[in-house]
This record gives sequence, structure tokens and C-alpha cells, in this order.
Amino acid sequence: MKTSNSIRLGVNIDHCATLRQARYREYARDRGQMVEPDPLALALVAERAGADGITVHLREDRRHIQESDVARLRECIQTRLNLEMACTDEMVAFALKTQPDSVCLVPEGRAEITTEGGLDVVRHVGLVRDVTESLQRAGIAVSLFINPEPEAIEAAAEVGADMVELHTGSFANHYYLEEARSEELDKLREGAVRAHEAGLIVNAGHGINYVNIAGVRGIPWLHELNIGHAIISRSVFTGIEEAVREMKARMRGGLL
Ligand code: PXP
Repeated sequence: MKTSNSIRLGVNIDHCATLRQARYREYARDRGQMVEPDPLALALVAERAGADGITVHLREDRRHIQESDVARLRECIQTRLNLEMACTDEMVAFALKTQPDSVCLVPEGRAEITTEGGLDVVRHVGLVRDVTESLQRAGIAVSLFINPEPEAIEAAAEVGADMVELHTGSFANHYYLEEARSEELDKLREGAVRAHEAGLIVNAGHGINYVNIAGVRGIPWLHELNIGHAIISRSVFTGIEEAVREMKARMRGGLL
């Protein structure tokens, strides 16, 4: 079994762009590097601090990351680029043009503040299979962001995904309710074993922070965690370098 010493960290930098868009909504579309804070500059420092990959979510409403950000990241980062996106023709065309190393397919509702639930692979099995196959034909690895439920895991294996990202949001939301927390953690542990046995690489993400990482890191077979809000928030006080180093240390079970 993989140990928590070797779990990789994908740093989700969406909220660096959220901060930029709060002031420079129009300029950022075509003059990414001219306005602060620049997600690419942040990504390069995060990599220097030990990030194993950079994750961005290009949302339908472009509320944070822009196409130009993804293109500049593709050109400049040294680690892996993971693009989170909805299963739409527009996004598939963008991914095929931009060639991230991996795509994580997520559900997307306009009204949600962040990605609220996992992708309903069972309901949209045909669409997810088509999108997965066209991305894989272009050499892009495909992950599905799902709740840790047996049906969703089986459907992910059935459509031929390379990876699943287990949704840790419910665990994070119940972290301070002891009984519910341990139920949610059991679901994640069981889901991880089931996904691994189905031949899927196991990632996890959403709502992970410097406290609840102590529970998340014990999920078996974890390959990568995608963490955004907590790291970007911490970086306001410490800078991104220390924020990434500290999360990596906690992923290994230590403190900086
Ligand atoms: N993984 C997925 C699929 C997500 O949609 C998000 C949120 O954008 C994250 C991970 C990161 O979540 P957080 O910002 O809460 O760490």
C-alpha cells in the first residue's frame, strides 16, 4: 500500500485568480502578466516549494482562471498541469488545444460557490465515456471527481477513467462532529480501496486544510491530494512558499 510519505500535492491556484478578478476583471483576460496577483508567478514559487503539480479550474463563467492563464501555465510550469473542467464541447476543445497533463472532470452549476458534489457518472455514463475517450486519445490522463460511493467508482472504471478524485468535502464539513467525521472517513477509506481494486489511481480533494489533513492522509492508496483554498489563504500571512512547505510537512505527518 502507498504510504502517506509519498502522497503528491497538487496546488489549486484558482483563488489567486479570484483575488485578481476582484479588481481586474477585464484586463486579466488578455494581459494576464500585467496585473496582480499573477497565478503563474504564484505557481512557479509553489513548485519551488515542493508542489508536485498545479491545478486550475476553468469555469464556464470564468470567475477566476482565464484561458490565457492556462496557456501561460502550460508553457512555463515544470511539474504537471491538471485542468478541472465540465463535460462540455467548449471545454473539451479547449483541453485538446491546450494539452494539460491531466483533466479532472467535475460537475458545474452556475449558482454554486465552489464545486458542491461529485460528478454523477452513473447518470451521464455515455457522455463521460465519450469525453474520457477523446481526451485520452490526445494523450491526456482523465480523472473523475466523484463522491466515494460504490456505484460512482464502478461507473468510473467502466468508462475507462485513469483516476478518480474522491470528494473530501463532506468529511471536511463534518470534521468537528466526531461521529459523522468518522463515518465520512470510513466512506473515503472504503472508496479508496474499491477504486484501487478497480484499477483506478486514487486522488482526493476539496475542503482539505491544515487541520483535517491529519485524517485525510490516512486514506489508503492515495496518489495525490488537490488543495487550494487553505493553501492560498495561509499564503496571505506566510507567503506561498511556506504555505506549500507546511502542507507538505503535514501530509507526511509532521509539522514545519
Ligand atoms: N478538487 C476539485 C475537483 C475541486 O473542484 C476543488 C475546488 O476547486 C478542489 C479540489 C480544491 O478544493 P479546496 O479549494 O477546497 O482545497
